[in-house]
Amino acid sequence: MSKSIATGIQGLDELISGGFPEGRIILVVGGPGTGKTILASQFLYRGIYDFNENGVFISLDETKSHFYKEMQSFGWDFKKAEEERRFEFLDATRISRVAILREKLYGETSVLRGKQLPIDKLIEDLQAKIQKIDAKRVVLDTLATLFYRFPDPIERRTAVVDVIESLSELGITTIITTELARLTLDREVSIEEYLVHGVIMMQTLFSQGATTRALQVEKMRETKINPNLVPYTIDRNGVEVFPNMTLFGER
Ligand SMILES: Nc1ncnc2c1ncn2[C@@H]1O[C@H](COP(=O)(O)OP(=O)(O)OP(=O)(O)O)[C@@H](O)[C@H]1O
Ligand SMILES: [Mg+2]
Repeated sequence: MSKSIATGIQGLDELISGGFPEGRIILVVGGPGTGKTILASQFLYRGIYDFNENGVFISLDETKSHFYKEMQSFGWDFKKAEEERRFEFLDATRISRVAILREKLYGETSVLRGKQLPIDKLIEDLQAKIQKIDAKRVVLDTLATLFYRFPDPIERRTAVVDVIESLSELGITTIITTELARLTLDREVSIEEYLVHGVIMMQTLFSQGATTRALQVEKMRETKINPNLVPYTIDRNGVEVFPNMTLFGER
């Protein structure tokens, strides 16, 4: 059994016997607005301030200033954490679809041009940041960006495998966020769920005019889990999971 890395997210650790298996990759899957970015950031912030584990956030989605501003609304001062050398932000937005479109539309040159995603460069930059602050936690937000970057299924699969395998080799406890597989990969088998150690699903359920946020730990290797679908909330303190309130399944 590997050591458990407490997420520090209220209620979540109870579903997974105390935390994530150390050094492993956990996939957080959910539709738009389900709170993937918030949950992943909370994992880093609690890591820094509750468990003395520094963290790196790799963003394929948003810029540093946007991220800092968004997180301030939960009272999470990542800017200060960066100044204290406990946090690093890796801006990888240039491989996003927008960057590709901009390149096509305006002919802007980019070092990332061409079919090949420079994953080696990304991992190299990440390693430097991990070393700089002796990071123990990493977040990659979001793998879904790669789906847009690679419309061709084979290229996409190669990129996904490459990213996950490269991150696994680093041996750092990592959250990778992604969109619902069925939305992005059509009926294709979702390779990423097989490659990772743990899968957490986040979703919004609609019933009788009301919405409920629901979370489920689908798998967590080396860990005893509560696999029930349970409710969670997002408020100004971030994500809170309610492990003892079952929506469906065993009671
Ligand atoms: N202070 C708050 N109180 C309650 N809910 C909030 C608060 N701040 C954000 N939210 C909710 O959090 C959700 C956004 O969370 P987040 O950005 O983590 O989602 P996401 O899954 O990463 O979405 P996307 O797929 O767009 O990246 C929204 O549904 C929003 O309503
Ligand atoms: Mg997000």
